[in-house]
Amino acid sequence: MNRLPVIIDTDPGIDDAVAIAAALFSPQLEVKLISTVSGNVSVEKTTRNALQLMTFWQQSVPVARGAAAPLLRPARDASNVHGESGMAGYPFASSEQCAIDKPAFLAIYDCLLASEEPITLVTIGPLTNIAMLLAQYPECKPRIKRIVMMGGSSGRGNLTPNAEFNIAVDPEAAAHVFNSGLDIVMCGLDVTNHAMLTPEYLATLPGLNRTGEMLHAIFSHYRSGSMETGLRMHDLTAIAFLVKPELFRTQACFVAVETQGEYTSGTTVVDIEQRLGRPANAQVALEIDVIGFQQWVTEALALAP
Ligand code: BDR
Ligand code: CA
Repeated sequence: MNRLPVIIDTDPGIDDAVAIAAALFSPQLEVKLISTVSGNVSVEKTTRNALQLMTFWQQSVPVARGAAAPLLRPARDASNVHGESGMAGYPFASSEQCAIDKPAFLAIYDCLLASEEPITLVTIGPLTNIAMLLAQYPECKPRIKRIVMMGGSSGRGNLTPNAEFNIAVDPEAAAHVFNSGLDIVMCGLDVTNHAMLTPEYLATLPGLNRTGEMLHAIFSHYRSGSMETGLRMHDLTAIAFLVKPELFRTQACFVAVETQGEYTSGTTVVDIEQRLGRPANAQVALEIDVIGFQQWVTEALALAP
């Protein structure tokens, strides 16, 4: 089978870690590069976490350190959800690998240029690196097959009443990406809030494999849901979309990112009913088959060591 080449732009992050696991061990995907960004915690920590994951799995996918702050705004983190380290709860060994010697936007550009076929960008953190890439090297767009994103919402938010974290942290970057003309798939919070792992399944993880044991430990510190009521796997939905798009109902929509609003900055305005009369710029996931997602997670994590 021809594997789909992907670059994962991420801020690990507990749900990022499980998304990376599912991607690394998927027979359908080839992870070419992991780029980090400031988001859930500082970029120093997200980079360290990505490198520690590579060591944990004995993988050597290159890791490129990205932006330390949003384009125009101060950084805001989500350590209340992911812990101070970003991946609290497991004694990871220090990484054996170092980040490569170029900033993420340049590493992504070089990776796109070196590839024989267009690459899918999987973005599961704020979009700062991707906006920098597109601003610096707009000619690279034909080398991007599509962007599959966890971010935004067609409904309520989690950082503010209306705005989802990955978009709200860097709305200017997100607006740049949505205005880029690229093929974008948006897995937003209104859908990912349903992508829950059940307490019954979570209890089986320690006996599954080393990865399950580690995930169970960090999941115990994750605050998007709880081990007793179930956990929301926001970022994992982007990987699920890549390998099992039939789990989602999507609709082509115009999506605007609000950058100005006093109370609404970072909101994705998703024009489901086409009231604004603007051409669609994204395929927006509107529904997920939750049982199908849970089955897929069971299969995907069983492939990890
Ligand atoms: C998103 O925000 C982060 O905290 C998660 O890792 C996910 O990417 C959910 O809103
Ligand atoms: Ca994330």
